[in-house]
Amino acid sequence: MTTIYLNGRFLPIEQAQVPVLDRGFLFGDGAYELIPVYSRRPFRLAEHLRRLQTTLDGIRLANPHGAAEWMRLVGEIVARNEWQDQSVYLQVTRGADTKRNHAFPKGVAPTVFIMTEPLVTPADAQRDTGVCAVSAADFRWLRCDLKTVALLANCLLRQQAVEAGCAETILFRDGFLTEGAASNIFVVRDGTMLAPPRSHLMLCGITYDVVLELAAAHGLPLQVREVLEAEVRGADELWMTSSTKEVLPITQLDGRAVGSGRPGPVFARMYGWYQDFKATVMRRGE
Ligand code: PDD
Repeated sequence: MTTIYLNGRFLPIEQAQVPVLDRGFLFGDGAYELIPVYSRRPFRLAEHLRRLQTTLDGIRLANPHGAAEWMRLVGEIVARNEWQDQSVYLQVTRGADTKRNHAFPKGVAPTVFIMTEPLVTPADAQRDTGVCAVSAADFRWLRCDLKTVALLANCLLRQQAVEAGCAETILFRDGFLTEGAASNIFVVRDGTMLAPPRSHLMLCGITYDVVLELAAAHGLPLQVREVLEAEVRGADELWMTSSTKEVLPITQLDGRAVGSGRPGPVFARMYGWYQDFKATVMRRGE
């Protein structure tokens, strides 16, 4: 049985309820984070909490907790559940008003919810062959840098991949790569790793930052710049990154092979660095 946290109480997930007038339910008015936990240690928790603050500032919602309290709550959720590796989801909404009203309510407490699930990273077989992706026009709003619970566009876009039997939908806006429906996308061409720069058009992933840091630390040629759709379509390698997928090679895009059609040599190096880094961070207990 899963234990969750809701507004000050720890309780079984089956007993947790929020009011129908909650603004998260009515308007998608809230922020969230998803934090991978390895051997009961949250990965890059401080960075996730900083991004939560950025989202809350962006939607003008006061953070109900300081970082120390968030760390305590996440630690307690991890401890109260049975799995060693977990995927902790936390969400803050603008709370429940007494009627439906677009304007922000006054004097209403936010809803704070934390749950966890077993962390399921990609199976070895998936990493060995790579996954397929489709592409679509990025029709989301212009604040994709905020991690809000209003994910309808992302769900519609991800569903296109699912219905094509693929793992991700790669998004293009005005001829440029933005990201995936629920991941960041990296491109390798002629041994150089390319990544779109942080902007309001994409979510700046915690994994994205780790991959950029690892590339720099290991001297991998790297360019953070706008990436043309044509460069993606002609890439030697494509990868998707996220907290649950880690780094995963995309070997087919819209039915055409990416490069050799097999996970590439640069991916193999990055994946090794990523796993080493995780092990190092976990050992240090960060
Ligand atoms: N999503 N871009 C989008 C649109 C995302 O939803 C995600 C992650 C990422 C990668 O971010 P990170 O490396 O911090 O996980 C990029 C999470 C996993 C989710 O919504 O389930």
